[in-house]
Amino acid sequence: MANIILVGAQWGDEGKGKIIDVLTEQADIVVRSQGGNNAGHTVYLGSKKYVLHLVPSGILRKRKVCVIGNGVVIDPISLVGEIEGLRKLGIRMGSNLLISETAHLVFPYHRELDAQREVLKGKNKIGTTKRGIGPAYGDKAARTGLRMLDLIKPDSFAEKLKLKIRDNNEILKAFGAKPLQYKKVLESYAEAGAKLKPFVGNTVVFLHEACMARRNILFEGAQGTFLDLDHGTYPYVTSSNTTAGGACTGSGVPPHHMDRVLGVMKAYTTRVGEGPFPTENAELGDFLHGLGREFGATTGRARRCGWFDAVATAHATMVNGIDELAVTNVDGLDTLDVVRVCVAYRWRGNRLDRVPADLEILNECEPVFVEFPGWKTDTSKARRWKDLPAKARAYLNAIAELTGSSLSIVSVGPAREQTLFL
Ligand code: IMP
Repeated sequence: MANIILVGAQWGDEGKGKIIDVLTEQADIVVRSQGGNNAGHTVYLGSKKYVLHLVPSGILRKRKVCVIGNGVVIDPISLVGEIEGLRKLGIRMGSNLLISETAHLVFPYHRELDAQREVLKGKNKIGTTKRGIGPAYGDKAARTGLRMLDLIKPDSFAEKLKLKIRDNNEILKAFGAKPLQYKKVLESYAEAGAKLKPFVGNTVVFLHEACMARRNILFEGAQGTFLDLDHGTYPYVTSSNTTAGGACTGSGVPPHHMDRVLGVMKAYTTRVGEGPFPTENAELGDFLHGLGREFGATTGRARRCGWFDAVATAHATMVNGIDELAVTNVDGLDTLDVVRVCVAYRWRGNRLDRVPADLEILNECEPVFVEFPGWKTDTSKARRWKDLPAKARAYLNAIAELTGSSLSIVSVGPAREQTLFL
């Protein structure tokens, strides 16, 4: 299989969880390299639904090693809950999970600060998942964060946590929020630390040795290109590098060991949280929500929906170096008469072929659409490319071409067998 970086080519929720699960069959190791429990990957196995937040979805297959890399921010309580939940579902949790000792930790004060900052922003709020992701990465960048290494050393951890709670309680007080009780936090974190300790190790060396042994590694991206801290619609982004480069820094595997980049995108576009969304269309949103689709896996929020934006996905190809594409949720469009694709933006009478970085411009952009006839056929039973109606194939070929990459996977439903390889 080689080493593959899988990234979201839109605003997250592209259906990556399912594609990761399908590709994991050929992988030996699956790595998460950024983000935290703001992510939610949904995988269906038979009638069972699994929503994973921190643990790579490779965990659902036997004989795969899952790695939570150094670039991830870990809420230990949430991770323990996820591990215990997986155990209850009959999944073995042992040497198949390795957690980086240098991954940073998320604390209750991060979550509280996340919430308070959103309140302070008022109508300019980001619409975060309130999982404390931004403040945790903020501490990492400010070099004041605590890491897994700290959590698994109970004596020194107690001292370090005391200082952190003291400092952060001052900030919480200034926000008018309730201060945290050191003893309570320590108790829950010490317990989580003891449970996580057997999984903690040097993931950088482990992955280096795996590369030397030519084992196949899948780097599973969380969120999507336009939520990237550097390349997204800042400040309406998450706080990590969700683009392909993040897989290297967040795992310690250097670029020359990466073989291919797979971009995952929906056959239309969705976004959760605030921020610009040029092709947003309330009618399409009502239609998809009416089908019971497009509710967030982490927060349950109804996702904003819009037509496929090829200006955006072409940008994603550029910043990620996407070699091949997986298009998901094709079946969501099955009953429409007409399907639209945005091929350029119009801004004050000018045609723009690139995504402008200036949000004042992006917010004023009107999409320039090309229309495709709907295929009006149930695609969910297709198992091969040639099973798809010609109009659906024409649409998929067009969006791949506009995105500037080649189509390799099409997904027509949540189940593993609803995956078409080209
Ligand atoms: P945060 O990552 O919780 O700080 O949220 C920042 C922005 O990223 C908000 O718009 C969230 O809705 C969005 N976001 C974070 N994680 C995900 C995800 O896994 N899928 C889609 N959007 C996400």
